[in-house]
Amino acid sequence: MAMLLLIPLLVSSIALFSISSATFSVQPGICYGQLGDNLPPPQISIALINSLNAKRVKLYDANPEILHALRNTRLQVSIMVPNELIAAVAANQTLSDEWVAANVSPFLPDTLIRYILVGNELISAAPNATWHHLVPAMRRIKRSLKTLRIPKIKVGTSSAMDVLQTSFPPSNAAFRNDLVGPIMKPMLTFLNRTKSFFFLDVYPYLAWASDPININLDYALFEPTNVTVTDPGSGLLYTNLFDQMVDAVYFAMEKLGFTGVRIFIAETGWPNGGDIDQIGTNIYNAATYNRNFIKKMTRKPWLGTPARPGSILPSFLFSLFNENQKPGPGTERHFGLLHPNGSRVYDVDLAGVTPEAEFRPLPAPENNEKFKGRIWCVAARGDNATALAAALSYACSQGNGTCDPIQPRGKCFRPDSVLWHSSYAFSSYWAQFRKIGATCYFNGLATQTAKDPSFGSCKFPSVTL
Ligand SMILES: *[C@@H]1O[C@H](CO)[C@@H](O)[C@H](O)[C@H]1NC(C)=O
Ligand SMILES: *[C@@H]1O[C@H](CO)[C@@H](O)[C@H](O)[C@H]1NC(C)=O
Ligand SMILES: *[C@@H]1O[C@H](CO)[C@@H](O)[C@H](O)[C@H]1NC(C)=O
Ligand SMILES: *[C@@H]1O[C@H](CO)[C@@H](O)[C@H](O)[C@H]1NC(C)=O
Ligand SMILES: *[C@@H]1O[C@H](CO)[C@@H](O)[C@H](O)[C@H]1NC(C)=O
Ligand SMILES: *[C@@H]1O[C@H](CO)[C@@H](O)[C@H](O)[C@H]1NC(C)=O
Ligand SMILES: *[C@@H]1O[C@H](CO)[C@@H](O)[C@H](O)[C@H]1NC(C)=O
Repeated sequence: MAMLLLIPLLVSSIALFSISSATFSVQPGICYGQLGDNLPPPQISIALINSLNAKRVKLYDANPEILHALRNTRLQVSIMVPNELIAAVAANQTLSDEWVAANVSPFLPDTLIRYILVGNELISAAPNATWHHLVPAMRRIKRSLKTLRIPKIKVGTSSAMDVLQTSFPPSNAAFRNDLVGPIMKPMLTFLNRTKSFFFLDVYPYLAWASDPININLDYALFEPTNVTVTDPGSGLLYTNLFDQMVDAVYFAMEKLGFTGVRIFIAETGWPNGGDIDQIGTNIYNAATYNRNFIKKMTRKPWLGTPARPGSILPSFLFSLFNENQKPGPGTERHFGLLHPNGSRVYDVDLAGVTPEAEFRPLPAPENNEKFKGRIWCVAARGDNATALAAALSYACSQGNGTCDPIQPRGKCFRPDSVLWHSSYAFSSYWAQFRKIGATCYFNGLATQTAKDPSFGSCKFPSVTL
């Protein structure tokens, strides 16, 4: 009875809420990465962003052509100070002022720049000299905005989940010891004082793929499942992996005394493809994760996460396009909602209003089980002889005897071609170094195969999964 009475109240307070916080629509935005040699120009890309019903866009730089093209679009924009500039900005207020004057001021007010991220996952990379310049650089950029009388722009930096030392159970989470004193405390003090956000990159895919035996796939995909996780410390009940990961960061902040700093999901998503040795990378899972994420974000009333019920959680989905020049494993090049030609990898609506029945059917997932068997790393294309020769030479210069069999008189010397020798060298290199993180990529010249390229007495080294 009381519940029934409450409903109209709830509805009207939500309506008021959404008016008063119109700038914080919970509908996800989109990350517009540009690491591809086949992507459409900015004007077309922005039209595509609009066709997906995105309300925000995140850039990984401050590309003037894109910022210009974003004028009068009503898209809220996040720009980035590149990692390489951070040390210089931290050391020099004039330089910081100049950066803001050159990259922000000229585009206001027609381009709705609302966020400046200082660096991208900087503290997730191997410890390096730039770390200690991060928070000072954030302060400088904020001061420049004030000097130049630019209101409404929040300054932050994006972090990955590896800033945590422990993340499970969420209530036990804590930041890494090496980060707490030198970086986290000053950063959180800055974010709290400026009412900015902790920008977080959250990939349930990565957590699941690292332990697919113990983590339920549906739990990672926000699919209905009987799997729930109760946090023994807080008593909170989790029904999906995303909430669990986000709350871990809330608890870690709380442990340092910061209860009021809000999280902004700077990236989340699921790869629609990848390499043979990568599990669960398919269109079905990518569509399911992203659609469910959008459903969660656009649900009315907004529920928040168990540790922060109702608390606003703005977000960006990663990413607009499959980007063919992203280094690393195949998944890196397969996060797009769109192919580079602008067609959709699968149907999706960031406003969350298109009924699922109107989406075209998805191909069944084919690699939700780990691949078992041997794989090789072979040359994928021979059209650029210079590039292939350079890659061959690099692969052969690594390790011990990597290329002995393709020397004259070696068992794999014939056929005597760069293409064939590259395939051997890539397989040999990868077999030696995969364990320590080497990928079968070589700037897009190499690809994994489950088909044994060996013949005659020439045996190619392989990786056994
Ligand atoms: C530190 O790492 C970042 C991110 O990988 C890189 O951009 C930057 O150049 C590095 N800085 C130094 C001093 O090595
Ligand atoms: C600070 O940056 C400005 C602008 O780039 C430059 O002119 C000046 O020399 C720099 N100061 C120092 C101490 O490096
Ligand atoms: C999961 O829950 C559903 C509905 O409550 C039930 O029908 C099903 O048997 C349960 N499955 C398992 C594996 O417990
Ligand atoms: C965060 O900021 C608020 C003021 O907005 C202040 O009252 C509080 O003490 C700050 N928290 C910390 C841990 O500095
Ligand atoms: C766009 O690219 C994708 C992936 O390469 C392809 O499957 C699709 O047919 C292309 N669409 C058009 C209209 O060219
Ligand atoms: C071949 O690859 C090199 C880089 O390794 C690049 O500079 C060059 O432009 C490429 N040539 C063609 C024709 O794509
Ligand atoms: C190469 O051989 C040397 C000496 O046997 C060994 O110390 C080194 O670890 C080897 N390197 C690789 C990459 O296997």
